[in-house]
Amino acid sequence: MNNIFEAPFVREMCHITANMYRMGWDERNGGNISWILENDAVEQYLDPSHVLRTLPLSFDASALAGRYLIVTGTGRYFRNVERCPQDNMGVIRIAADGKSYDILWGFENGGRPTSELPTHLMNHIARLSVDPAHRVVMHCHPANTLAMTYVHELDDRAFTKTLWQMCTECIVVFPEGVSVLPWMVCGTNEIGEATAEKIKDVRVVLWAAHGIFGAGRDMDETFGLIETVEKAAEIYIKIMNTPWKQSITDAELAALCKEFKLTPRAGYLDV
Ligand code: 13P
Ligand code: ZN
Repeated sequence: MNNIFEAPFVREMCHITANMYRMGWDERNGGNISWILENDAVEQYLDPSHVLRTLPLSFDASALAGRYLIVTGTGRYFRNVERCPQDNMGVIRIAADGKSYDILWGFENGGRPTSELPTHLMNHIARLSVDPAHRVVMHCHPANTLAMTYVHELDDRAFTKTLWQMCTECIVVFPEGVSVLPWMVCGTNEIGEATAEKIKDVRVVLWAAHGIFGAGRDMDETFGLIETVEKAAEIYIKIMNTPWKQSITDAELAALCKEFKLTPRAGYLDV
């Protein structure tokens, strides 16, 4: 059995959580990540029959039966993951009946998976139903995106169009747009279900006054999505109190999509 501390998936989680912390997106224990791993990759480092603990799930996760995920820990700080991976994250496997999960590594010293695990698993199931290559769900609290949810109307189309207008690259990075949920209690099945309903059509769902849920095929795609939304929100916050002399028109956004051979969300551009 290889040394799990050298596993590419453990190294990548250390790297990404450290970067997210340095971006200022994950104060204290804010934010959480889960990543669906390939069984072969995990079983080079962990004995699949060596279960440390089994914990219940409060919804049906059978669509992920037998899948391994690496997940950050509840109450644990992203800034500590790199120096103590085994305390601050762990590897889980969803049970065959989808009613519980096994912990195979990590979550030492009283740790357990993020309180947002139901939302992560529901969102993995939703994204996999529309994209079999989907693997990552990432949640964090970037300041400008949060600020924008206080001052902008929380309508999916209006919010998306404002973001698209803030940087030329936005419509290229997320042509399907973003979705926004009103404020809800976090860590519940309800917020998980509401997010999963929206995330079938987009890879970014914003939680008003709370943060971002991003989904992607790998860490780079998911991190890049969040980074781009947050950059656009930063520009919006910088200019929202200044009269605009110009912006990017819908015709220009349509021209960008044509050039990049992308289809923008139907009905969002007035062209
Ligand atoms: P956890 O510490 O349980 O991961 O929660 C952090 C968070 O951001 C809740 O939305
Ligand atoms: Zn949060």
